Amino acid sequence: MKYDFDRVVERYGTYSAKWDSIRLLMPPTDKPILPLMVADMDFRTAQPILDAMHRVADFGMYGYTAAWAEPEYAASVVRWFRQRFGWEFGPEAVVYSNGTIEALNCAVRTFSNVGDGVILCRPVYGHFTQAIEGECHRRVVDCHLLCDEAGRYTVNFEELEALCADPANRIFVLCSPHNPIGRVWTKEELRRMAAICRDHKVLLVSDEVHCDIRRRGVVHYPVASLVSDQSNIITLTAVNKSFNLAGLQCSNAIIPDPFLRARFQREFGDRMPTPFAVAALIAAYGQGGEWLEQVNEYIDGNIDFVLDFLKQNLPWVKAGRPEGTYILWLDFSASGLTDAEIHTRIYDKALVLAQDGVVHDPGQGQCFQRICVPCARSVLAEAMQRIAAEFTDIKR
Ligand SMILES: Cc1ncc(COP(=O)(O)O)c(C=O)c1O
Repeated sequence: MKYDFDRVVERYGTYSAKWDSIRLLMPPTDKPILPLMVADMDFRTAQPILDAMHRVADFGMYGYTAAWAEPEYAASVVRWFRQRFGWEFGPEAVVYSNGTIEALNCAVRTFSNVGDGVILCRPVYGHFTQAIEGECHRRVVDCHLLCDEAGRYTVNFEELEALCADPANRIFVLCSPHNPIGRVWTKEELRRMAAICRDHKVLLVSDEVHCDIRRRGVVHYPVASLVSDQSNIITLTAVNKSFNLAGLQCSNAIIPDPFLRARFQREFGDRMPTPFAVAALIAAYGQGGEWLEQVNEYIDGNIDFVLDFLKQNLPWVKAGRPEGTYILWLDFSASGLTDAEIHTRIYDKALVLAQDGVVHDPGQGQCFQRICVPCARSVLAEAMQRIAAEFTDIKR
């Protein structure tokens, strides 16, 4: 089956955080606003997933639902990671969570104390900071990523080692693939991060929700699949990003170590999915591969489009080619404008809803913008043209 991702779909009035929040976040206007902020796709999901959810809807009873009562749920997760990533774990390792950030919160609460340090490599997904500081009252300790001239980011391993050696820092939250800078970490990088955490008895929480969205030819390795001792590793996975199912809040923490898992579960309790989530996950991991391949190919094209467009029209905007995710991290600092001026031109004048870099990097994210590009290419083209039109005075 060939899916049509070129179809333009307006999602107003569908309870969409991405579209229906526009009215609250943007100035009132009659002109169409183009939202590139929220990380979900403007694409209908795979037909087998729709069929599975229709079957649930048609049954007409939506009572309490248990992921553990349906063996096919965990078995589907196990098969997906074995077949796609060569990662072996048993079904007992799969802990359902109603959201990835919910599971992250629980890991932080369970394995650290109020005031302890939690290491992040910024720029990194802003909700990590909100969860760690705002909800769990721990301290974010920033092991800032290094960036070369070409916009390629790497981990500062010396600093990571020093921070992990400090007993005040109990947890390292890795984003793999990394939102917003798009790195898919190599085996060597991941092994080194895991070894540092193991040596210093730091819990490694690896958020791998973007693992299925990758550029052509790029291989993602779950960090836990590369080490023999997984006793200090929690991996966060989800169908949310991969299959455009974020509204179902269907995530799974993979915790192979029984002692680590028992401690996590004691704090987390038993979370209940909706019946739609159970049906959708089984269909996604069982029959969603064809759709996923096509969507990845389309996103490859969108990313090529944006990078070519920037080269032609805004060559001073620095943007590395993401290896994974559908996110681009754009550096407007060569414009010589302030962060506020860049914001005004993009949001108020071009009427494009992007996301200010400081959300993901409060210290050094000024003059950066994050955009998510899983939408029809024509919409993306219009957004890029509108942005370029507001910067014609910048010549570099
Ligand atoms: C790295 C990362 N983790 C977690 C999430 C949110 O996941 P969830 O909606 O399952 O909490 C996102 C969403 O953009 C993300 O990019």
